[in-house]
Amino acid sequence: MEVLNKMLIILMLCLAMLMDRNVGMKTPRRIHVDTDVDTDDLFAVLYLLKQDPSEFDLKSITISANSWTDAGHAVNQLYDLLYMMNRDDIPVGVGGDGGISYGGTIFPNVGGYLAIIEQGMTTVGDCRYRQAIPRGGGGILDIDTNYGFRKGFLPQGERKYTPLRQPTAQQVLIDTISVGPTTLFLMGIHTNIALFLMSNPHLKKNIEHIYIMGGGVRSSNPTGCCPANDTTCIPGQCGDHGNLFTAYGTNPNAEFNFFGDPFAAYQVIHSGIPITLVPLDATNTIPITEQFFKEFDNQQSTYEAQYCFRSLKISRDTWFNDKFYTSYFMWDSFMAGVAVSIMKNGEKYNGENDFSEMEYMNITVITSNQPYGVNDGSNPFFDGHKKPRFNLLQRGVHSGHVQIGVDDPFCIVNGSTKGKCEDGYTKEVTGSDAVKVLVATKAKASKDANSSLDKEYFKHFLEVINLPQHAGRFNISTQFPYYRETLYLPNFSNKTRGKPVVFDMDMSAGDFISLIYLLKAPIEDIDLKAILVSGNGWANAATIDIIYDILHMMGRDDIPVGLGNVTALGTPSFGCTYFKAIPLGSGGYLDSDTLYGLGRTLPRSPRRYTAENSVKYGAPRDTDHPELRQPLVFEVWESVTQKLNPGEKISFLTSGPLTNLATIILSDTAATSKIESIIIVGGHVANNSGDKGNVFTVPANKYAEFNFFLDPQSAKKVIQSGIKTTIVPLEAQRKVASVECILQSLQHANKTPELNFTFELLTLMNELQRKYQGYKHMDTFLGEILGSVFLVEQANLKPIIQVKSIDVIVGDERNEGQLSVDNVKGKFVNTLESLDTEAYFTKLASLLGEQKQTAVISSFDEQKRIWSKPPP
Ligand SMILES: *[C@@H]1O[C@H](CO)[C@@H](O)[C@H](O)[C@H]1NC(C)=O
Ligand SMILES: *[C@@H]1O[C@H](CO)[C@@H](O)[C@H](O)[C@H]1NC(C)=O
Ligand SMILES: *[C@@H]1O[C@H](CO)[C@@H](O)[C@H](O)[C@H]1NC(C)=O
Ligand SMILES: *[C@@H]1O[C@H](CO)[C@@H](O)[C@H](O)[C@H]1NC(C)=O
Ligand SMILES: *[C@@H]1O[C@H](CO)[C@@H](O)[C@H](O)[C@H]1NC(C)=O
Ligand SMILES: *[C@@H]1O[C@H](CO)[C@@H](O)[C@H](O)[C@H]1NC(C)=O
Ligand SMILES: *[C@@H]1O[C@H](CO)[C@@H](O)[C@H](O)[C@H]1NC(C)=O
Ligand SMILES: *[C@@H]1O[C@H](CO)[C@@H](O)[C@H](O)[C@H]1NC(C)=O
Ligand SMILES: *[C@@H]1O[C@H](CO)[C@@H](O)[C@H](O)[C@H]1NC(C)=O
Ligand SMILES: *[C@@H]1O[C@H](CO)[C@@H](O)[C@H](O)[C@H]1NC(C)=O
Repeated sequence: MEVLNKMLIILMLCLAMLMDRNVGMKTPRRIHVDTDVDTDDLFAVLYLLKQDPSEFDLKSITISANSWTDAGHAVNQLYDLLYMMNRDDIPVGVGGDGGISYGGTIFPNVGGYLAIIEQGMTTVGDCRYRQAIPRGGGGILDIDTNYGFRKGFLPQGERKYTPLRQPTAQQVLIDTISVGPTTLFLMGIHTNIALFLMSNPHLKKNIEHIYIMGGGVRSSNPTGCCPANDTTCIPGQCGDHGNLFTAYGTNPNAEFNFFGDPFAAYQVIHSGIPITLVPLDATNTIPITEQFFKEFDNQQSTYEAQYCFRSLKISRDTWFNDKFYTSYFMWDSFMAGVAVSIMKNGEKYNGENDFSEMEYMNITVITSNQPYGVNDGSNPFFDGHKKPRFNLLQRGVHSGHVQIGVDDPFCIVNGSTKGKCEDGYTKEVTGSDAVKVLVATKAKASKDANSSLDKEYFKHFLEVINLPQHAGRFNISTQFPYYRETLYLPNFSNKTRGKPVVFDMDMSAGDFISLIYLLKAPIEDIDLKAILVSGNGWANAATIDIIYDILHMMGRDDIPVGLGNVTALGTPSFGCTYFKAIPLGSGGYLDSDTLYGLGRTLPRSPRRYTAENSVKYGAPRDTDHPELRQPLVFEVWESVTQKLNPGEKISFLTSGPLTNLATIILSDTAATSKIESIIIVGGHVANNSGDKGNVFTVPANKYAEFNFFLDPQSAKKVIQSGIKTTIVPLEAQRKVASVECILQSLQHANKTPELNFTFELLTLMNELQRKYQGYKHMDTFLGEILGSVFLVEQANLKPIIQVKSIDVIVGDERNEGQLSVDNVKGKFVNTLESLDTEAYFTKLASLLGEQKQTAVISSFDEQKRIWSKPPP
């Protein structure tokens, strides 16, 4: 009986398997998405997640980290989105610290942070192409935060970035593609995929098809055109093939995704894998119309529809001109729709589908400009190499002038507003370098002629995104029965307030510990009035949210936070001069932007960066909640100084580049009279005792210290201002940069949530430092804590201070940012030479362990518990 039963079961299993095979066609298509996590990418990813997984199974996602978002913020966004959609099973690949050798050997796990032409052995490199993307508002800052809506709307699950444990982009690609036939959807730049193809030629056969949003073949940009009878109007991008609104003066031909890494795009297009391209040709014909926008407003029956609509609305409300409805297009989501429709149709030869007309074209991707073989210093594939990298042909298509930036003089045509460069152009060509590609040319009109929606895809998109199947489970507020946003404000009405202090930071790990320490200083001694944040230091501007979260934890939602500039003084706003020396991967931006993965364990503040804005502050129009607006450095400075009592002055502590302080001194002529003194953490006196500086990524510059190096002109401005200044140079910092000593003293102190948090962060950094070369510089951040301890304790640290006549060198790569002792050009400043280090470690631990002014809410976990119970 038993045996018979078993046999029956086996038989049934066999039959089931057979049937499964018979329905053969029904095995789901395995899909991998590579995305730069821009707003329209979110629409596309959600659209794919709404498909029936037995037909279209999204297996994995990789982040294209060299484009509109920064890796650490992009991974948070995707984890939150997938959590909402109940798809924590989908792996997300981010970065990797591998490199490419000078000779062209590609090592495993290259992170895709840099265009291939700039990729060396580390994640440090220039922003030749990426500089075309604005870094601040209207650009990366807004996209990193999804205009502030990510933290305002999406729930947060258990997944987070963890240093060295995060699956890398290359590993996720290998894992997915080696399992079986896979279809790729490319929504960002092509670096990850090109590197994958170049390093895993044996897996190429598993890629069935690549669908790409990007490029512009016969496209003619409809924006920036002038009215026919207007003779004064200067046309913008009108008629261009490309859409680089920041760079058509040099390159009117490229589209952002292809411009981000033309050589990578070339590798993908020329891989021999069947390609379907949805370029600007098609997307230009499907602008978000007012009718679609209205219809979307009325159809939001799922969380994902809500999230998409709100993202779209804030994009509209913050659009830089009044042409949103003619210049914002369905980009990536249109590609996803066309691709799914082609596949549903059985992938017919001519790509018949419901949403777009298709045509075969012979194209290539231009990677360099003619004449070829010039060796003019613009092309690292050839320049200085006896044998070109990757065995490229000496006078081949890759050997011409490669555009070096958005204002490359080579590309400028005298007397024209449009440039001549073609890097990244998906050009129609004939002959041996042409690849036959299926190209979407025009969005199809609605089948229903009476529909208010003029394109068939609009109707379909709204239907899919509102489907009850595979819908999001909740948003952050409906996930918890008692969710509420509370501002924690201290009551110091009983207390006398101490010295008014402004803290200027750049969001490295040390700065966050410094901030916690300052918040612990008794209000009677130190009255922290404001925090200023620079966006050109060790973290990207969007990381400002971690500051808000720490203030929330500490019950200090009253402290204003001002956002500063994202570039150094006197450097082009499209560029990465100086901060390009900060690694993009491990130990660099990826870790600072996530606070080594621990940022997500902090309680979520109701305050956060938002793109909300108002006409009053120079925005083109008011958004729905202009009152939520993120203040800028100078506004915070003005409001702080207006509230000072007569005769009262501000003391500054700076722990990042001096950009903000210099901006204040330059913009407010009375600033010097309002500042009592400045403590500057940073600087290193060159040639002093033979000690090197710490700008380890610029070996030619032996003696600079990072905070000064990141903005030498601002540093010079501040030192020269004549304000009473004390610098805490590298030499002094190094005396206390022992993580063991700090951890030991913390271990013996009273435990508070903030001390525990500090302990956890430092323990993690210490572990990473011991394990992995990319974290060797962790001491740099330890030194920064000295600034706040010195400010608070002063004489208790028995400091030895010398007065020196100091000048800041603004020179070339070899000495920029270094300090020199110069009795002629220098200014007298106090320099902290040494201190009682034992007192330092003791004071640091004891104040962090102090019960007074301790955290009011310890973590996100505690917050979740609070939101699960009725308020007391
Ligand atoms: C979450 O969804 C609910 C129900 O649709 C909505 O009322 C609420 O505003 C949403 N929460 C947020 C934070 O947007
Ligand atoms: C241009 O033509 C439009 C439509 O014919 C007309 O409304 C407008 O007044 C004209 N503008 C000028 C500057 O002539
Ligand atoms: C593309 O190239 C093929 C082969 O050279 C040629 O037969 C075809 O006509 C070309 N198509 C277009 C659209 O140029
Ligand atoms: C364009 O003009 C600049 C200065 O006006 C000149 O130096 C340059 O040589 C000109 N370039 C060409 C290609 O004519
Ligand atoms: C479209 O509208 C016209 C006029 O209102 C009507 O006669 C026609 O039946 C409508 N067509 C459809 C498909 O609804
Ligand atoms: C105000 O100060 C008094 C005396 O120092 C103290 O007893 C009281 O608890 C304080 N109140 C607050 C709200 O801190
Ligand atoms: C702050 O504390 C004082 C007593 O120290 C009290 O009179 C006052 O109402 C409190 N303010 C708030 C806003 O709770
Ligand atoms: C930021 O820097 C740029 C270039 O140096 C300057 O034009 C701009 O005014 C600065 N913005 C702010 C807010 O200081
Ligand atoms: C601090 O961490 C220790 C050890 O993990 C734990 O036992 C303690 O409860 C924590 N204290 C606070 C206040 O978070
Ligand atoms: C350091 O020493 C070198 C060699 O003596 C000299 O050229 C350089 O100017 C010095 N730098 C500073 C900042 O004094």
